[in-house]
Amino acid sequence: GPDVVTAVAYPNIALVKYWGKRDERLVLPCADSLSMTLDVFPTTTHVQLTPHAQDIVIVDGVTAQGEMARRITSFLDLVRKRARSKRCARVETRNTVPVGAGLASSASGFAALALAAATAYGLPTEPKELSRLARRGSGSAARSVFGGFVIWHAGSPDAPDPDRSSYAEPLTSACTDLALVAVLVDTGPKPIPSREAMRRTVATSPLFPDWLMQTRHDMTVMRRALAQGDITTVGEIAERNALGMHETMAGAVPPVRYLTPASHRVLEEVCRLRDQGVGAWATVDAGPNIKVLCSGGDAEQVAVRLRELSRRPAVVARSGPGAALYGTQ
Ligand code: DP6
Repeated sequence: GPDVVTAVAYPNIALVKYWGKRDERLVLPCADSLSMTLDVFPTTTHVQLTPHAQDIVIVDGVTAQGEMARRITSFLDLVRKRARSKRCARVETRNTVPVGAGLASSASGFAALALAAATAYGLPTEPKELSRLARRGSGSAARSVFGGFVIWHAGSPDAPDPDRSSYAEPLTSACTDLALVAVLVDTGPKPIPSREAMRRTVATSPLFPDWLMQTRHDMTVMRRALAQGDITTVGEIAERNALGMHETMAGAVPPVRYLTPASHRVLEEVCRLRDQGVGAWATVDAGPNIKVLCSGGDAEQVAVRLRELSRRPAVVARSGPGAALYGTQ
């Protein structure tokens, strides 16, 4: 029968966040962002071309409906347009973390789908091209195409083809020992999808222009700190950047709030750890889960403390690989 293509991709955690699009349709961001790809919670995606008249999308064993199915089908429409194909596909994808938990399943999901679908439809799969394609599914997915530390370029609005100018690429770093402890505060669905929250923040938050200025400054300092292996500066900038993003969201009308009382308790514990001389810094995405950056040597100790405090699971992650076809990793 027709070949099934299988791809695996890992989530990434932004150290300088992407929060704001300048072009919704092309998923072009307002600013550059920078991340570390993780070695936990991979997404595995199978794509098979079918003779059927409709795409079939199965997520975590269940036929996808609503917004999720719509996003995957419109992504496949883009792939078909580029491949000049009318064939429909069967997509089956499996996450190892609950969808919507703020642990970036859309990043690993669209990175894996981009690689599997591009391969199945015969499109080019060089990583740079793949990151541009994955970006159209979900902005942060552009970064999960690569392993380790990754920068996603916003691209130039003045470029003849702005779509071509916005892609991700790997960054060399001396911070090879950076670890991340993810505390699973709450894995339920989000109060508001991040896409809508981002749109509302751009449209209504008076703090948004300041956020963009801060994020550009943070990017400069972060790149230098990563190159120098200065984990303290990496952690300090990452924490400030993440909290600044949440303040900017809180300025939206109506306000967007992802942090819960449980999130704030974990944030306070991270401060206490620092007071006790442990190098630990928090980052948070569009959800209540706190991720703590620290050195690999401190990771187990930090995880134990955070489990005790929160009575929630805490997972230790390190730098992980880029998207790969199954069996080629
Ligand atoms: C808070 O990439 O999920 O995780 O492009 O609309 O799909 P869309 O958004 P998405 O947003 C991620 C936002 C973030 C920060 C980040 O990963 O940089």
